[in-house]
Amino acid sequence: MAKVILENVYKIYPGERGQPEKVAVHDASFEIEDHEFMVLVGPSGCGKTTTLRMVAGLEDISKGKISIDGRVINNVPPKDRDIAMVFQNYALYPHMSVYKNMAFGLQLRNVPRDEIDKRVMNAAQILGLLEPDNLLERKPKALSGGQRQRVALGRAIVRQPKAFLFDEPLSNLDAKMRVEMRTEISKLHNRLNSTMIYVTHDQVEAMTMADRIVVMKGGYIQQIAEPLKLYNQPANLFVAGFIGSPPMNFFRGTIRREGGSLWFYEDGKDPSGPVVKVKATDSQAQKLGSYEGKPVIFGIRPEDVTEQLTASPAPPGHTFEATLEVLEPMGAETFLYLVTTSHNLIVRAGPIDAKSLVGKRLSLVAEMNKAHFFDVATENVII
Ligand SMILES: Nc1ncnc2c1ncn2[C@@H]1O[C@H](COP(=O)(O)OP(=O)(O)OP(=O)(O)O)[C@@H](O)[C@H]1O
Ligand SMILES: [Mg+2]
Repeated sequence: MAKVILENVYKIYPGERGQPEKVAVHDASFEIEDHEFMVLVGPSGCGKTTTLRMVAGLEDISKGKISIDGRVINNVPPKDRDIAMVFQNYALYPHMSVYKNMAFGLQLRNVPRDEIDKRVMNAAQILGLLEPDNLLERKPKALSGGQRQRVALGRAIVRQPKAFLFDEPLSNLDAKMRVEMRTEISKLHNRLNSTMIYVTHDQVEAMTMADRIVVMKGGYIQQIAEPLKLYNQPANLFVAGFIGSPPMNFFRGTIRREGGSLWFYEDGKDPSGPVVKVKATDSQAQKLGSYEGKPVIFGIRPEDVTEQLTASPAPPGHTFEATLEVLEPMGAETFLYLVTTSHNLIVRAGPIDAKSLVGKRLSLVAEMNKAHFFDVATENVII
């Protein structure tokens, strides 16, 4: 049982040898509910590890407050916070067996021997360390990366902590093992039903594992939401571009009034090139009214644009043209890489065979009610 609350938390590293101070985390406030799987995601250097280390007590909190179950823990030493942390480099003791690696922390805490045995065997069973091969007497060097990662997880599980903290625990594994361990950790969360805070720079990991996601950039929290909410209603340009693969397509342009409607016109570099010109829906027009004559960024996801080869006739104001440069057949789907007068875009289509269309202009349909508009200056979403 653990509810973790961060209130206006800052991490300020003092500047050394004439260097300016570094604010690694700015004013972070959020709550992690009991049993919740919260993921912190963002590019390298955005402050994820620093935030996690402040929760664990491995880093001082410069300003603000962190509490667990109502108790402020700013000055509580790490060992008394009842939290277990799993790191990227799982740091197993090389000279100890798998069993000993898991039991050691409990021995230090003077947990009775039969209780240790019970917990280790239980964790070993959950993590598949007993079957098909019993790995308990092996040394870490005789294990695969994924097996070592399981032992590191086991070491955290046996402590029965209030909360688990993970710092990129899968980044040393190969792609296939990463996907496997991702599901293992999700299953573990369902089974243990404990609070987990998980740090990753991989938005796919974040989307697939999280109950909720905190997106960070440059020490600032950008948005906190459930995965699909982040995907469908990004708060700003950064979140829109960071979550989703292939990423959202963006076009710079201007809002203009024409025939009583508001239209987005892509800024064109090449007068002969195809230009995106699409009509805002009624609800978009309500929010875009004050942007008439002003620059905006138009965003649309690859799956919300269809090529007219397969699309049924589109309502007016939804179609535009672009030149097909590359076609990537992936089997179940096809990625089309296209260019307009001044932007590249990606379209996610079904399994089409259209190599002969490379170099040609295609007619495309944008699903306008799925489109997003962003303010150029603030980069916040308009609608
Ligand atoms: N001891 C320190 N002194 C000064 N700056 C530091 C210190 N430790 C970290 N930083 C800076 O704080 C910022 C946040 O670092 P942090 O390790 O939290 O990033 P991260 O989001 O975990 O990145 P990554 O994905 O690369 O692990 C970085 O710019 C980093 O250089
Ligand atoms: Mg980190």
